[in-house]
Amino acid sequence: MKKAPIVTKNVPLCWLVGLLVVGLLGAQLSMVAAEESAEPKKLNPYTGNAEAIQQGRALYLQTGCSGCHGPGGGGGMGPALLDDEWKFGSDDLTLFKLIKGEIPQQTMPAAFGGVLKDDEIWKIIAFIRSLYQGDPNKIDW
Ligand code: HEC
Repeated sequence: MKKAPIVTKNVPLCWLVGLLVVGLLGAQLSMVAAEESAEPKKLNPYTGNAEAIQQGRALYLQTGCSGCHGPGGGGGMGPALLDDEWKFGSDDLTLFKLIKGEIPQQTMPAAFGGVLKDDEIWKIIAFIRSLYQGDPNKIDW
C-alpha cells in the first residue's frame, strides 16, 4: 500500500510547519488562560497546623482584628469570619490580599499590610480557617 504524500506541490512544507507552530502556541496559550481562571489554589502552608493556628490567634488579637471581627471571629463592626459569606471571595489569595491591603475596593483598613509579615498573615488566615462553621462543601482552601 502506497502512503499518500503529506506534502503536495501546492502546499510547501514550511507552510505546514508554520501552521503546526501556530497551532501549538495557541494550544499552550489557552492552557495558560485556563490555569489562571482555574480553581482557587491552596496557598497557605499553615492550614490545619495547630501550632500556627495558636500563633495566628495571638496575632489576630494583638493586631486588633478582633476589634472589628470579634475575638472569636463572630463579627461586629466588620463581617463574621466563621460563615460562608465572603465579600471578595474565600480562597487563600483573596484573603491574603485583603489583609495585606491590596484589594482596591476594600473598606477594611489596608494598614495591616505594613505591620504584618507575610508569614504572620498566613498564620492568621490559618486561625480564621479554624473558626469556619459554614458549609463544608464550600471549602476551597
Ligand atoms: C476597622 C475594622 C476592621 C479591622 C480592624 C479589621 N477588619 Fe477585616 N474586614 C473589615 C471589613 C469592613 C471587611 C469587609 C470587606 C471590605 O469591605 O473590605 C473585612 C473583611 C475581612 C475578611 C473577609 C471576610 C468576609 O466576610 O469577606 C477577613 C478574612 C478579614 N477581614 C480579616 C481581618 C484581619 C486578619 C484583621 C487584622 C489584621 C482585620 N480583618 C481587621 C473591617 C476590619
